[in-house]
Amino acid sequence: MNRRDFLKNVGITGSGVMLAATPWLSAFSEKKQTVGEKARLGIIGPGSRGQILMSFLCQNPKAEITAICDIYQPSIDAALQLAPKAKVYRDYRKLLEDKDVEAVIIATPLDTHFQIAMDTFDAGKHVFCEKSIGYDIDQCFKMYNKHKETGLVFFAGQQRLFDPRYIKAMEMIHSGVFGDIEGIRTFWFRNGDWRRPVPSPELERQINWRLYREHSKGLMTELACHQLQIGTWALRRLPDTVMGHGAITFWKDGREVYDNVSCIYIVDNGVKINFDSVISNKFYGLEEQILGHLGTIEPEKGKYYFEEVAPAPGILQMVTEIEQNLFDTLPFAGTSWAPETAQPNKGEYITGKRPDGDGTDLLSAAFAEAVITRKQPENIAEECYYASALALWGDMALQEGRMLTFPDEYKLDYLNHSRKPLIEKEEEKV
Ligand SMILES: NC(=O)c1ccc[n+]([C@@H]2O[C@H](COP(=O)([O-])OP(=O)(O)OC[C@H]3O[C@@H](n4cnc5c(N)ncnc54)[C@H](O)[C@@H]3O)[C@@H](O)[C@H]2O)c1
Repeated sequence: MNRRDFLKNVGITGSGVMLAATPWLSAFSEKKQTVGEKARLGIIGPGSRGQILMSFLCQNPKAEITAICDIYQPSIDAALQLAPKAKVYRDYRKLLEDKDVEAVIIATPLDTHFQIAMDTFDAGKHVFCEKSIGYDIDQCFKMYNKHKETGLVFFAGQQRLFDPRYIKAMEMIHSGVFGDIEGIRTFWFRNGDWRRPVPSPELERQINWRLYREHSKGLMTELACHQLQIGTWALRRLPDTVMGHGAITFWKDGREVYDNVSCIYIVDNGVKINFDSVISNKFYGLEEQILGHLGTIEPEKGKYYFEEVAPAPGILQMVTEIEQNLFDTLPFAGTSWAPETAQPNKGEYITGKRPDGDGTDLLSAAFAEAVITRKQPENIAEECYYASALALWGDMALQEGRMLTFPDEYKLDYLNHSRKPLIEKEEEKV
């Protein structure tokens, strides 16, 4: 199966541009035909995210959910609706003994990922672990190394790596269309308490695990993880230092994780990736704004904007002139601020049409393909490791309230120094 066939197979029928921007998919290029083969998957923790992954995999002719494991009956019941023939376990170690499971999807709360993933590798099974992969950088590093030692496939839930909008955006950024990338502003705003309904009080921490430090690092591990991966993918560099601030400013309901965070990740040339999240105002939604000296790209929205816009049509130009003349004559304000306000610029769409999904369908299909071919796609594990490590490192800065340097001992061989590209271009590898 060649890469084009693979992409067709997982639903991307797109252009060579996409192929060039997805070097990790080259892993499948020289493999044998996999027609008729199925990845036999077990899922541990088929809760909300696990069921989304299952819904894609259950429709994929190359995957079969042969076993599920959960400690909460409603999750088991919901998962059985999707995969009625799956064997049911309540202890994940029993699922790992099941010979009919060759790969495991881990979609449990953050604090449980490490032990389950390490045991899964020890059982000789491939691992897909939801993000963030570990509860601290050391756990992430050990998980990554275990993958390297065992040679087993290792994916994480960083679906933007497979989202056609992001792939195309990165291709444009790396080809220099937007000039030098001088800053990346990422934000994720919501207005909600992030709570799930709890049927009885003793289940509060189990169900609302996201809100408690023993289980979660809050907005950093749940949201920042995705956007930091976009930042380093765009820059092809790792930040050297991080600082930030976190607080509980609105949802003072007994939770232990911040509802209001800002982090600044600084690359050694001074370029910064900012991450801001507030969950009591959703006006700006979520976005990664990648700022080049020639233009801006917003992959989530799927749009880009050049700094120099074509002249406005006559009527709009006339209105602008009238407004400016009006302000010129006003005594209380000069025109000096006017040119600094954002210019009307509708921008262009990255891809003709906004894709329906967010890349999760393609990510899960790629994992099934990797399991069948027993081949780890290039750079996937590294991208996933750094996304989690950077989120956890940012959380350390929030907790310690000081600027931190990324520890040398947790850098990977593949990216020992921030000056190395995060993703090599196809032609550079040849
Ligand atoms: N990639 C993404 O976009 C994305 C989106 C949402 C969640 N996630 C990640 O998915 C993971 C799960 O999040 P969620 O929202 O589905 O949580 P959830 O609480 O809905 O589901 C977790 C499930 O794990 C089960 N569980 C807990 N401990 C277990 C154990 N020891 N053995 C077996 N089952 C166990 C729970 O009973 C529950 O059914 C988290 O790591 C989260 O960050 C990723």
